Amino acid sequence: MDAQRLKDSFARVAQQGDEVALFFYSDLFIRNPQLRDMFPIGMSAQREKLLAALGNIVAQVDNLPALVPFLQQLGRDHRKFGIVAEHYPAVGASLLATLRYFSGPMWNDDLAEDWNAAYTLVAKVMLEAANEEGLATPAWWNAQVIAVERRRFDISVLRVVPDQPLPYQPGQSVAVETAARPRHWRYYSIANAPRPDHTLDFHVRLVDGGPVSTVLVRTLRVGDQLRLGAPIGTLTLDEESSRDVLLVAGSTGLAPLKAILEQLARRPAPPRTHLFFGARTRDALYDLEHLSKLAAELPWLTLVPAVSDEPPGPYRADTADIEHGALPDVVARRGLWPGHDAYVCGPPAMVTPTVERLVQLGVSRDRIRMETFVEVQR
Ligand SMILES: Cc1cc2nc3c(=O)[nH]c(=O)nc-3n(C[C@H](O)[C@H](O)[C@H](O)COP(=O)(O)OP(=O)(O)OC[C@H]3O[C@@H](n4cnc5c(N)ncnc54)[C@H](O)[C@@H]3O)c2cc1C
Ligand code: HEM
Repeated sequence: MDAQRLKDSFARVAQQGDEVALFFYSDLFIRNPQLRDMFPIGMSAQREKLLAALGNIVAQVDNLPALVPFLQQLGRDHRKFGIVAEHYPAVGASLLATLRYFSGPMWNDDLAEDWNAAYTLVAKVMLEAANEEGLATPAWWNAQVIAVERRRFDISVLRVVPDQPLPYQPGQSVAVETAARPRHWRYYSIANAPRPDHTLDFHVRLVDGGPVSTVLVRTLRVGDQLRLGAPIGTLTLDEESSRDVLLVAGSTGLAPLKAILEQLARRPAPPRTHLFFGARTRDALYDLEHLSKLAAELPWLTLVPAVSDEPPGPYRADTADIEHGALPDVVARRGLWPGHDAYVCGPPAMVTPTVERLVQLGVSRDRIRMETFVEVQR
């Protein structure tokens, strides 16, 4: 299997834009009409999701050590769509038909064989993980909403209780579906370390015009039901490390880092930890009250709240400790960070420059774990 040839081939096809996904799904649903119901009714916004991910993943088959854990999680997570082994050849066939169509004269038997081998391998890893998981856990968890706190017009903190324990590592996310938006699954980070009562917290920020966040933030009520998929994500605490810890959160990017913080707090000797929590305005620091209480109780934790879009006003006791400026600048102002493990989460416009700055400030790139809330699927 020639991985470079696969990458080049997918890049060429992907250049042809929206039509590629349109072709793929038309092909899939014409040949397999029964699969249509697994997908959301309106698909225009995310038509490219499965196809783009498929292509990118398959084109990375030369990096199996990185890819395999991701595929295993994806395979487990796919159980929530009701997907079983029989569905995989159908998707593979439409993927190949699409690639063949858009490759034109570049398509040949060798390339077809490479794609087939790569897809088969990826599908095998996903299915094996799904089957193994199937023996122990459900395809999805039903969960009841037991608390909704509207912290701001665009941010709600939700607490749910799953109908059976949902095992996860702090820092991971689960896909969430609400009955008001059937089959529109969206990932949300679990904002707490596992509790004896198995409840899970989510911090949801409304994305303007977004179908799911609008419902979760504005209309969800106590007693409503959600469905949750299997946990995914690698923004998890390195338990082997005894280094000091730097947590940098933009807005609801706080959620997974708060779970990690709670996990650190359970250690007999927690490391020295700095938590930077940034937002545009003071008002958007929606969890500051809780975090301040936590920092007052935990001598090893330093909390640094920061706002980027509000100039420092006249002195006020309740805002005196808030830094002003973009998160990377605020982090830099507070010191150099060599020897730290860093965890960064939030929107891409915050995560990318923060990571670059941390490297300049002495954090080794391989000691930085990050997640952005828009793109996880490689
Ligand atoms: C691993 C992971 C964990 C996540 N955890 C959280 C979380 O804890 N809390 C949370 O509020 N959101 C989280 N998200 C984002 C969440 O999954 C949804 O995308 C978001 O709530 C919007 O959903 P929607 O259906 O309303 O709009 P979507 O249809 O998802 O998005 C509408 C548009 O907004 C863009 N967009 C989506 N999210 C953002 C964002 N955060 N910033 C800027 N643009 C965005 C999309 O690219 C799209 O163009 C996470 C995403 C991932 C991938
Ligand atoms: C090698 C095999 C596959 C890979 C790599 C793959 C990858 C992905 C990825 C990365 C996503 C986006 C995940 C998300 O954001 O929730 C996705 C979504 C999805 N996949 Fe797969 N998938 C594979 C096989 C299949 C198969 C066989 C089916 C069966 C029909 C399927 C059905 C779906 C559905 C229904 C969605 C949700 C789409 C949406 O919400 O728009 N996938 N897949």
